[in-house]
Amino acid sequence: KRPAGAPDRSLARPVTKVGIVGAGLMASQLALLFVRRLEVPVVLTDLDQERVDKGVGYVHAEIDKLLAKGRINADKANRHKALVTGAVDKSDVFADADFVIEAVFEEMSVKKSVFADVEKVVSPECILATNTSSLSITEMAADLEHPERVVGFHFFNPVAVMPLLEIVKGERTDDATLATAFATGKALKKTTILVNDSPSFIVNRLLGRFMGEVGKIVDEGTPVPVVDGAFAGVAPMPPFVLLSLVGPAIALHNNETLHGAFPDRFYVSPALERVVAARKASYYGPDGALDPE
Ligand code: CAA
Repeated sequence: KRPAGAPDRSLARPVTKVGIVGAGLMASQLALLFVRRLEVPVVLTDLDQERVDKGVGYVHAEIDKLLAKGRINADKANRHKALVTGAVDKSDVFADADFVIEAVFEEMSVKKSVFADVEKVVSPECILATNTSSLSITEMAADLEHPERVVGFHFFNPVAVMPLLEIVKGERTDDATLATAFATGKALKKTTILVNDSPSFIVNRLLGRFMGEVGKIVDEGTPVPVVDGAFAGVAPMPPFVLLSLVGPAIALHNNETLHGAFPDRFYVSPALERVVAARKASYYGPDGALDPE
């Protein structure tokens, strides 16, 4: 059955090579998913060789783990590993890509400049997908020569196990782009839904409300482990474990975006701001209070 709002599948274009901009936490998980499900060349790019090597190394190590668990055989492991490569200079490696996805820092100006750079080296039909979790697709595409090939393609952490993929249509996204996004999502074995191009789409908007309340409870003096403990058996992951998985900066950015759009309904916790300002990856301090206090 065609997902609600998805154009006719016959409009979808084939995806024979994937480019990924960024080689960090989300980008390298995306590379693993794309190579396993599509079995096409996947190229990771980043600002320097060290980051690129780290991203490619992550994918190779995850494939080795699947081999060790007996989930794939040695032939498949070697084939998949050979399909994943990395580069700093995008110009050659992206020239024949038909699907490029960016998963760089969650900041509109950064994402816009990434797409402007990519557009110089890819074909006019190459899809430009963004894994943004909160920013406007329409705005991200606004200054491009071909804004009709820009689409939101939002995955959840951990990418390998979370089933949902939010597909976001910008004002100028055309049907061929949207059809290709849905067909690719299906090939990746994700459940695809079309969501409006509004701040944080659906899932992160709901999570933003929830995380705002969680932050408020901590700001009112309840220690982090008590809040997490309250969720034992209620949610698959206690809130602060989830916040650490997603990354404090991303979670804070989400609530800031939502607060900017709907100031009366979204709360930005000063305690969470302190954690992000101190570049902490964990929320637990020595006495169970929020770290740092
Ligand atoms: N990477 C890859 N695979 C992982 C993984 C990871 N980080 N964590 C767990 N898994 C796999 C395990 O290998 C296991 O697979 P197999 O059964 O095939 O061996 C499977 O997931 C289940 O794992 P466990 O039994 O160890 O653990 P669990 O039952 O506690 O489930 C979980 C783990 C699925 C991650 C679960 O804790 C969960 O659903 N957590 C909530 C995650 C969530 O809400 N994510 C959304 C965050 S919001 C976001 O990402 C949006 C954004 O833009 C910021």
